Amino acid sequence: MKLKGLRAGLLSVWLSGFLLIALSFYGTQLLSPSSLDGPFRYSSRSIAAAPPKITIFTALRSSSSLDEDSQAFLAIRSWLALSSQVTVVLFSPSSASSFTDKFGSRLLLDSTIDFTFLGTPFLHSMLARSEAYQSDIAVLMDPETVLLPDFVSALSFTNQLDRDWLLVSSSVSIPSFPFNWDKTGHFWRQGNGKRVRFGELQKMISLRSWQSNSTESKTILAWNNVDLPLHCGVLPPFLYQRGTYNQWIINEAMSCKRRFVFDATSTISSFYLGNEDNRSDNNVSEPKTRNWEYIGNSHLGQLYGSLFSKSFTLPKLLKCNKHYMFVNVSDRSVDLSILEGKGVGFRRREKISACISRTKSRSLNLDIVQKDEAVPLLKFPFDLQSLLPLVADKNRTVVLSIAGYSYKDMLMSWVCRLRRLKVPNFLVCALDDETYQFSILQGLPVFFDPYAPKNISFNDCHFGSKCFQRVTKVKSRTVLKILKLGYNVLLSDVDVYWFRNPLPLLQSFGPSVLAAQSDEYNRTVPINRPRRLNSGFYFARSDAPTIAAMEKVVKHAATSGLSEQPSFYDTLCGEGGAYRLGDDRCLEPETNLTVQFLDRELFPNGAYRDLWLKEDVRAECEKKHCFVLHNNWISGRLKKIERQMMRGLWEYDASMRMCVEL
Ligand SMILES: *[C@@H]1O[C@H](CO)[C@@H](O)[C@H](O)[C@H]1NC(C)=O
Ligand SMILES: *[C@@H]1O[C@H](CO)[C@@H](O)[C@H](O)[C@H]1NC(C)=O
Ligand SMILES: *[C@@H]1O[C@H](CO)[C@@H](O)[C@H](O)[C@H]1NC(C)=O
Ligand SMILES: *[C@@H]1O[C@H](CO)[C@@H](O)[C@H](O)[C@H]1NC(C)=O
Ligand SMILES: *[C@@H]1O[C@H](CO)[C@@H](O)[C@H](O)[C@H]1NC(C)=O
Ligand SMILES: *[C@@H]1O[C@H](CO)[C@@H](O)[C@H](O)[C@H]1NC(C)=O
Ligand SMILES: *[C@@H]1O[C@H](CO)[C@@H](O)[C@H](O)[C@H]1NC(C)=O
Ligand SMILES: *[C@@H]1O[C@H](CO)[C@@H](O)[C@H](O)[C@H]1NC(C)=O
Repeated sequence: MKLKGLRAGLLSVWLSGFLLIALSFYGTQLLSPSSLDGPFRYSSRSIAAAPPKITIFTALRSSSSLDEDSQAFLAIRSWLALSSQVTVVLFSPSSASSFTDKFGSRLLLDSTIDFTFLGTPFLHSMLARSEAYQSDIAVLMDPETVLLPDFVSALSFTNQLDRDWLLVSSSVSIPSFPFNWDKTGHFWRQGNGKRVRFGELQKMISLRSWQSNSTESKTILAWNNVDLPLHCGVLPPFLYQRGTYNQWIINEAMSCKRRFVFDATSTISSFYLGNEDNRSDNNVSEPKTRNWEYIGNSHLGQLYGSLFSKSFTLPKLLKCNKHYMFVNVSDRSVDLSILEGKGVGFRRREKISACISRTKSRSLNLDIVQKDEAVPLLKFPFDLQSLLPLVADKNRTVVLSIAGYSYKDMLMSWVCRLRRLKVPNFLVCALDDETYQFSILQGLPVFFDPYAPKNISFNDCHFGSKCFQRVTKVKSRTVLKILKLGYNVLLSDVDVYWFRNPLPLLQSFGPSVLAAQSDEYNRTVPINRPRRLNSGFYFARSDAPTIAAMEKVVKHAATSGLSEQPSFYDTLCGEGGAYRLGDDRCLEPETNLTVQFLDRELFPNGAYRDLWLKEDVRAECEKKHCFVLHNNWISGRLKKIERQMMRGLWEYDASMRMCVEL
C-alpha cells in the first residue's frame, strides 16, 4: 500500500514536471514564430554552430533617406532580421538619429568617413573605418540589397575554414517585390496575409538571374579576420557604389593570395528592386552629372590595378542536399581538401558530380578590363558657375584654394584638414591639367582656370619668383570672378593650416570690409605697415565696394611687374600706406572699402613669434586659440612641406592615398 502511494506521488511529481516542461516548451514556441512549419523566418536558430558575429558596412548618400518605403529601409530590416549576431554600420554624412530609433541598437550610424562634395562616400575611407569595429566577419554591400537567411548559413559554414577568405556574391534585380514585412519584422506576408515561403523567394531570384544579363549587378563582399587587409595594394579613392571597385578588390585579393577568394552567388539569395533604369543612383535625369563618378572609378582601377588584363574564374561555393562544397570551375573538380575534417558526407565522386549538374548555379560576371587601354581624360560636368551653388554655404560663401601639380599633396593635406573640421564649402581652382585630373579623381570640386600660365608645375614657384608672380595674379582674377557671380570668397592658400573654422568670425566683420592676414612679423610695429597685406588668406564679400576695389587690384596687378601682393596693398592702403586708419585698418577712399588686418595672435603668419620653431606648434597655437597658421616666410616647396610634416600639421598620407587621423 505504502509503495503504491509513493509511486502515485512520484508519478504526480513527474507528471506535473512534465506538464511544466511541456508548458514552458509551448510558451517558447508561442514566443518564437519559427514553430510554424513551412514558412521560413529570419532567425539564427536554424544554424547549428554558434553564429559568428557579422558586421555589415554600408553607406547612404546625403540626399538618400531611410523612409519606411525606401529600398534601403526594406533591405536593412532584412539584414537585422537575419540573426541577433548581425550589426549594421551605416555611414552617412548626417548623424540624424531618427533611423536608429526605428531599427534599435544593432544599427550604428557613423559620420566620421569622408564624402565628396556631392555626398558620395569614399570606399577607402569606409574600409579603413571598418577596422575600428570588432567582428568575426565583415560584409560590404549596397544599402538596397535584401538578404535572405541562407546568407548567414553560408557565412557560418565558411567561417569554419581554417584559412582566411573573401566571399563574393552577386545579387539579382527583381522588378517588384509584392510582399510586406509582418509586424514582428521576422517574415514577409503576401497581399492576402499568407506568409511567404523561403523557397518561393529563392525561385523568384533564380528565375530572374537567368533573364538578367546585367554585368553591373550589385556585389556583396564578406571576409573574416577583419584585421588582415583584403589585398596587397593600396586602395585608390574609389567612390562607393560607382562601379569597378568590387572587380578591383577581387583581382587584387586573387593576386595577393593572402585569402581564399570564392564565389558564393549560388548559395546566397539576395536581390534588389527595380530595373537598372530607375534606380536612384542611376537617375535618368541625372546621368550627365553622375557619369563621371563611374568613369572616375574606372580610371582609378586602371591606373592602380595590377591584374586587370588577366582572365580568371573563381572557385564556387555550392550547396546541395544540405551540404556545402567548393567546386573549382576551371576543371569542375570538387575541392575536398578544404572540407577535410568538417564531417561533410560527400565522398563518392559520382554522387558529387550528379549533384553539381543538378545545381543550376548562378555565378558572378567578371568583366575583364584591359590595363593597357589608353586612359582618356576625364570630363568633369562642372565648371565654376555650376559648382558654386553646390558647395556654397547658407551665407553664399566659398573657401577657395588655387593649386598647381607640385603642390598636390599639400592641397590634399589642406582638403583633409577642412574635411576634418567639417568645412564642406571649399573649391579648388586647378592651374594645370594634371592638377585638374588629379582633383577630379580625388572627388574634389575643382575647376580649371583656362587663363592660368601653363608651366607652373615646378619646385621653384616660391615667393618672389617670376612664376609666383604669375600664379598670384590668377588668384585675384578668380576671386573677382566669383564675387561677381554673387558669392563671398575666403581665399586660403594650401599652405595655410587651419586649426579652427574662421568663417563665423570672418562673416562677422560685415559689409564693405575685406579682412586679410598681416604679413608683419615685428611685434612692436603696426600690422598695417606698407606691403604687409598677405594676399594668401583673405575674406572678400560679394558687395559693390569690394568688387570695385578688387577690380582695381586686378587692373593694377596686370600692369605691375611684381606679384599681386604689392598691388593689393598699394591699391587698398595707398602707396606708402597713405590710406591707413589706426594700426590695423585701411580705407580705400574711392570705393569706401575698409581693409581689416586680422589679429596676428589669431591669424599668425609664418614669421610671427617664430611659431614654426616651437617644439609643439599645435599646442602653442591652440593655447592662443589660433584659427590658422600660415606656412609662409620659408623658401622652397620641399622645405615648406618638410616643416609642416615635421610639426605634425600634415593630414594626408600620399602612400595610402587618404586622409589620416591625427
Ligand atoms: C541583354 O542584353 C542585350 C544586349 O546586349 C539586350 O538587347 C537585352 O535587352 C538584354 N536583356 C535583358 C533582360 O536585360
Ligand atoms: C521603376 O519604374 C517602374 C515603371 O515606371 C515602376 O513600376 C517601378 O516601381 C520603379 N521602381 C522603382 C524602384 O522606383
Ligand atoms: C532624379 O534626379 C532629379 C534631379 O536631381 C530629382 O529631382 C529626382 O527626384 C530624381 N529621381 C529619382 C528617382 O531619384
Ligand atoms: C583549380 O584547378 C586548377 C586546375 O586544376 C588549378 O590550377 C587551380 O589552382 C585550382 N584553383 C583553386 C582555387 O583551387
Ligand atoms: C614656360 O613654357 C614655355 C614653353 O612651353 C617656355 O618657353 C618657358 O621658358 C617656360 N617658362 C618657364 C618659367 O619655365
Ligand atoms: C553666416 O553669417 C552669420 C552672420 O552674418 C554667422 O552668424 C553664421 O555663423 C554664418 N554661417 C556660416 C555657416 O558661416
Ligand atoms: C621692430 O621694430 C622696431 C621699431 O621699428 C625696431 O627697433 C626693431 O629692431 C624691430 N625688430 C625686428 C626684429 O625687426
Ligand atoms: C564713400 O563715403 C563717403 C562718405 O561717407 C561718401 O560721400 C561717398 O559717396 C562714398 N563713396 C562711395 C563710392 O560709396
